[in-house]
Amino acid sequence: MANENLIITDDIDKIAKTAVDYINNQLEDITPENYFTIALSGGNTPKKLFRHIAENYNKALPWKRIKLFWGDERCVPPESDESNFKMTYDNLIKFIDIPPENIFRIKGENDPDEEACNYTKTLEQNLRFRRGHPSFDLILLGLGEDGHTASIFPDRLDLFTTEDYCATAVHPVTGQRRITITGKIINNAVKVTFLISGIKKAKVVREVILRSPEASRYPAYFVNPVDGKLKWILDAEAAGEL
Ligand code: 6PG
Repeated sequence: MANENLIITDDIDKIAKTAVDYINNQLEDITPENYFTIALSGGNTPKKLFRHIAENYNKALPWKRIKLFWGDERCVPPESDESNFKMTYDNLIKFIDIPPENIFRIKGENDPDEEACNYTKTLEQNLRFRRGHPSFDLILLGLGEDGHTASIFPDRLDLFTTEDYCATAVHPVTGQRRITITGKIINNAVKVTFLISGIKKAKVVREVILRSPEASRYPAYFVNPVDGKLKWILDAEAAGEL
């Protein structure tokens, strides 16, 4: 089933090189005063990729022309091991030559509702607009076993129809509060890439990619960039049911 928008590989260097080449190619089309804007995913899956890029491709990317954002954050302080920012700092940011002013952290330590408003303003002030709304050049997404993505969980499919750019959410199992970008932002990106690993995701991956009827209960089912590209990068286990 592999095609250009579906990469199945366990080779972390292939994934890293694909990402680096894509960003560099895109930067050629962006005027010098502009930036390449990326919303990063959290959780565990991106750690290996971030660390591989930090150790092997730090000098291959013009970090001064790249702005880092997050697709979601846990409502915890940045020092917490639960923090997506901390995971990214520990595996990528502390190794690369990126100016601090290019890093736009969701402040998990703030009041969630206030921070959702703050991050909305951050997106409006730092992203280019396409179709009248802020638009990332690239959004990296993970996938939960329940089909969630970013922090849009199955009980909040309304976050794919809201006009808001950011929202608060609650993890349905842990009760942990979250801040997330919404479908309005996700589907207005130039490119959205799912990075998924592990056999536990294989069933949901199959249902979403094959658009099975029951997949419409999964938030990931509604990721469909209106004028952009959707790419899947899966390891062999996550692709095991395709
Ligand atoms: C988060 C993520 C979330 C994550 C998936 C997959 O804050 O946890 O943004 O959407 O990408 O839950 O997580 P794993 O990579 O840990 O399986």
